[in-house]
Amino acid sequence: MSRLIRVLSVFGTRPEAIKMAPLLKEMGKNPHIESLVCVTAQHREMLDQMLEVFGIKPHFDLNVMKERQTLVDVTVSALTKLHDLLGEVKPDLVLVQGDTTTTFVGALAAFYNRIPVGHVEAGLRTHNRYSPFPEEINRRLTSVLASLHFAPTRLSKENLLREGIRSGIYVTGNTVVDVLKYTVSEDYVFHNDFLKNFDFSGKRVILVTAHRRENIGTPLRNICNALKRIATEYEDVHVIFPVHMNPAVREIVFPLLAGTERVHLLDPIDVFDTHNLMAKCYMILTDSGGIQEEAPGLGKPVLVLRENTERPEAVMAGTAKIAGVEEERIYEEAKKLLEDESEYQRMARARNPFGDGRASERIVKAILHEFGLSEPPEEFE
Ligand code: UD1
Ligand code: UDP
Repeated sequence: MSRLIRVLSVFGTRPEAIKMAPLLKEMGKNPHIESLVCVTAQHREMLDQMLEVFGIKPHFDLNVMKERQTLVDVTVSALTKLHDLLGEVKPDLVLVQGDTTTTFVGALAAFYNRIPVGHVEAGLRTHNRYSPFPEEINRRLTSVLASLHFAPTRLSKENLLREGIRSGIYVTGNTVVDVLKYTVSEDYVFHNDFLKNFDFSGKRVILVTAHRRENIGTPLRNICNALKRIATEYEDVHVIFPVHMNPAVREIVFPLLAGTERVHLLDPIDVFDTHNLMAKCYMILTDSGGIQEEAPGLGKPVLVLRENTERPEAVMAGTAKIAGVEEERIYEEAKKLLEDESEYQRMARARNPFGDGRASERIVKAILHEFGLSEPPEEFE
């Protein structure tokens, strides 16, 4: 190809921005690629917070978010706007990341325009169509639409092979591990005022995040009740919980936990703060996908606040454990890690099965390979 390969990256939520950031940086350096960015802004504040810390300036902003948006709202608005945009921009390749509505709609809009799609973080599966909802189906549909599949691990590649996908699969590692290379530092000064002034010495901090659609309701109430018991029982334990902007989440978390001694509810923090807080904390309780991938590299045990995970690599490596969404079980699992030193040490091993920090480099090489400009990348082992 004699002209530049025009790559349009489409993303819209916090985790997509974080995981696309190192890839955008890598594509920006490459002399064969013209890298353009379109954000759907399915998230507004939480996306902008990440665009700012990474210094990403989108070329196109579809600004679709509205309060209490439904899946249909995001799908229809983003699809309509993206379809028009793709007709004008005419990229050679559209990149989408993960499993959100933006991911699926980005891939569908590209397909309608007969533009090939590259899927970053392809092949994750729980094999349960309603858990996580709607992400499991979003990622399966995206795999059907995509031509290039950047699978983070061997296991994710195997999931794709089982679904009959035979070409365009590259095992790259997860780009989130690339991010960790430059966010965490020993002498880090937090941006968030509460964290900047928080004295970590002599305290065991439990970092908590929860936002999954299927957890909103009784499961999230159970989680909050378990946290309240833990914080009340252990005087050296502090729970730090940056609460997602979703009003449906906030309406449950704040009434149940605000004012509880040693429980600190924050607004979403930026990813530099998050990664450094993870590095300083004792353990993590979360239903987030991204955090399950980040924690193993930092040697922090994770209790997964869900009934299953599409990221079993961490469970197999022994650094994460499914704790479910029942109050008693979460409480007991947390208690075990607070009291049983050998159980804690068994889980607190720093080894990341999701990547080695070179995923973006491999993805760029794979893109060049597809356009006849490079050898294929080595697989991530
Ligand atoms: C979305 C993704 C989910 C991902 C999560 C990451 C879908 C269906 N879900 O879920 O896979 O794990 O993002 O966080 O794509 N809101 C704000 N400001 C923001 C962000 C959200 O006010 O910056 C509020 C809005 O009222 C919005 C609501 O949160 O309606 C829910 O946002 P939405 O993107 O629909 O779903 P999430 O639960 O965030
Ligand atoms: N994160 C963040 N600030 C927060 C909570 C999470 O920067 O207040 C980061 C976290 O480190 C991870 C990503 O956001 O990289 C996960 O996003 P989220 O939990 O919203 O989505 P999921 O990964 O579950 O799709």
